[in-house]
Formats: sequence, structure tokens, C-alpha cells
Amino acid sequence: MTVTARLAEIAGIGRDADRGGYSRHLFDATDAPLRDWFHRRASALGLPVEEDGDANLWAWWGTPGDEAVATGSHLDSVPGGGAYDGPLGIAAAFEAVAQLQAEGFTPARPIAVCAFAEEEGSRFGLPCLGTRLLTGAAEPGTALARVDAAGTSLAEAWAASGRDVAAVGPDPDRLARLAAFIELHVEQGRDLEDRGIPVSTASAIIPHGRWRLEITGEGNHAGTTTMEQRADPVVAAARVVLAVQEAARARPPARGTIGKVTVVPGGTNVIASRVVAWLDLRADHDEDVRALFEAVLAGARAGVEAEGCTLEVYEESVTPRVDFDAALTARVAGALRPEFGEVPAIPTGAGHDAGILSSVVPTAMLFVRNPTGVSHAPGEGARDADCEAGARALAATLRALAGAA
Ligand code: HGY
Ligand code: MN
Ligand code: MN
Repeated sequence: MTVTARLAEIAGIGRDADRGGYSRHLFDATDAPLRDWFHRRASALGLPVEEDGDANLWAWWGTPGDEAVATGSHLDSVPGGGAYDGPLGIAAAFEAVAQLQAEGFTPARPIAVCAFAEEEGSRFGLPCLGTRLLTGAAEPGTALARVDAAGTSLAEAWAASGRDVAAVGPDPDRLARLAAFIELHVEQGRDLEDRGIPVSTASAIIPHGRWRLEITGEGNHAGTTTMEQRADPVVAAARVVLAVQEAARARPPARGTIGKVTVVPGGTNVIASRVVAWLDLRADHDEDVRALFEAVLAGARAGVEAEGCTLEVYEESVTPRVDFDAALTARVAGALRPEFGEVPAIPTGAGHDAGILSSVVPTAMLFVRNPTGVSHAPGEGARDADCEAGARALAATLRALAGAA
């Protein structure tokens, strides 16, 4: 089998005809078929699968036990996302195990292939939900109270999926078993393309934060309300968007994005009463994200006030900078050296489950070249040959980390 053949098996699940790409979210109609695929692929390799209390899947090669080496990623996507962000790391993990089994490798320590729940946070707004719950980075009650766009709480969706809400929460015993976690991921940028290399390791994940901005104005009739009489939250929101752009541009290489906006009530002939906008900020260091947020807030408040509206700001998640385990990353680079020579360790602006797990387990990442660098969009891609190279790199990594000392 190949990585691309494994990915092809799920290519029909969650296609988004309106947005293009894929929309695969926690406990929606795509969740069970994707989990079924994971179970099928795992059992084809003789790996029994268990699901932890946080809806994360673990396929074990060897009896689950101490000093385990885990690898994996996520199956969910952003709305209209690409085919590789997440699934590539799982398909490559299964392919790496298949290659090791075919060569007669016997792991000296347990190996687990993982699929973590709701990494993108697209339905309930909390990125890396499964690993944040697992590590205790997210408080279960607070997480379970979060609601999706339809007003369904995570607790309701969890119970409706047939899972036990009481089981949600940190699992320190499971994490204590792990000696290392490796996540392979499609690069979300074109550093490897520019360098002309197929794979690399990762040095760091820059910090990022998400806030929900609620802008309230005065709903009214579009035809009978003069421009002077208006308190239009959509215009206020437009000023906020420009304030985000201005603040981020003034602090390179910071990034500020408002990619999701809802307008209430949303009528063509209606001046809106309320706008909800979600803010995503990223910068090289934690203090830079904070400073950027303060600058954005000042600009946003001024813009909202100028339109006679009010602003409420709610922090949804702030994820500190992660510098990956240098010793583990060096070991991974050593495992790649025979086939790939000296590979660089590159930083990323994208968050990952590996970043959350790095707070409790030595963690490293592998990136696979993305020709356009585009991600979180249908245009996300990776060459077949590079996907297979990624699986070989992961196999070399698992052989080195889980082989006999
Ligand atoms: O948003 C991120 O950086 C990640 O893809 N969840
Ligand atoms: Mn992503
Ligand atoms: Mn991802």
C-alpha cells in the first residue's frame, strides 16, 4: 500500500461542495466514517484500537505500556480545508508501521498510532481539543459548555455520539506511558519547496491566540434610517478588520486574521444589530502576541466607538510558543540522515497537537513538502513522492526510537 492510497480511501468523506475542499468536524456526519477508516487500517496491521475518554484514538503495536513511542495527528479539518492537514500524519504513520512490519522489525517498546479529536477547533472553537483535554490544558466543564454555531453544547454532542461525558478529562496515566511523540504534518508554507527538500524536522510553533469579538449596534431599516442616524456594527466591524491589519503589519512577522464573521440578523434590507467576529493573532513570542492584542484592542475600541457601537471581547484560547525537544529532534534528524542527509529544523506558524503534548511528553515533528505552501484551503497539496518520503522518514524515526537499545 502507499500513503497516497491510504489517503485516497477517505478522499470521499466530507467533501464540501460549497466551499471546496473538506469540512470534517467533531461528531458530525464525517466523524464516524473517518474513525471507521482508522479502525480498518489499524486492524489490517494487527493493531488493536482503544479510544480514550477524550475521543482520541490509539492503535497499539505491542502491548500498551511504558516507554511507548506515539505518532499521529488529526482527521478533522477547517471548513473547506485541504486533504493533507491532519490525515497525512495518520496515513503516513500506518504506512510507516506497514513498512517496518514488512522488513521484520520488532519494536523493543510499544508504538502507538494516534488520531486526536477536533484539532482545528472548527466546531467548538477550542483548537487541539482532544489533546488539551488529555493533558489537562482544557478544563472539562468549561470545554463541555462550549457551543457550536447551532447552539449545541459539546456535552450534548458528546452524549449524542454515544460517549460518556463523565469520562472527559486528563489522563495522566496514559501520558506517563509515553517516552516520545512524533507528529508528521504537511508543511503549511513553502520553506521546503524553496529549499528543494522533501522533509524536515520542526524547531518551534509560534504562539497564537483566538478571541471572539461581539460588536453591538442598533438594528434598523436600511431604507428609512439616514446615515447620520445609524449605529451600524458591520461598519464598526470593517474598522476592526482594518485595525487588525494595521497592527499586525506594524509588527512583522506578526499575523492578524479575522476569517469568520456572523452578522445578526443578516437581512439585505436590514441594518445589523450585532456582529460576531473571531480574531486570530500570531507572533514570534508570547509577549509579542500580547502586545499585538493590546494594539488591536485599542484600534478596535476606537473604531467601534466611532460608529456608536459597543464591543465585548472574549478570549477563546491562547497557546504559548513551543520549542520542540532538541535532543529528540536531533535523534530524529540522525534517523533521517542516511536517506535525506542533513535536514533543517524549521519553525511553523501553525498549531499542532504535538505542541500541546510537548508540555508533558518529549515531542518532535516531521514536515512534508507542500509545493504551493497553501493550507487551510482546497489548494493544499503534497506530491505523492514526498508523501511516501515522509512515511520512510517516519519509519526511520520509529525504527530509531522504538528499536532495541
Ligand atoms: O490553527 C492552526 O494553526 C492549526 O491548524 N489548528
Ligand atoms: Mn490545520
Ligand atoms: Mn493540522
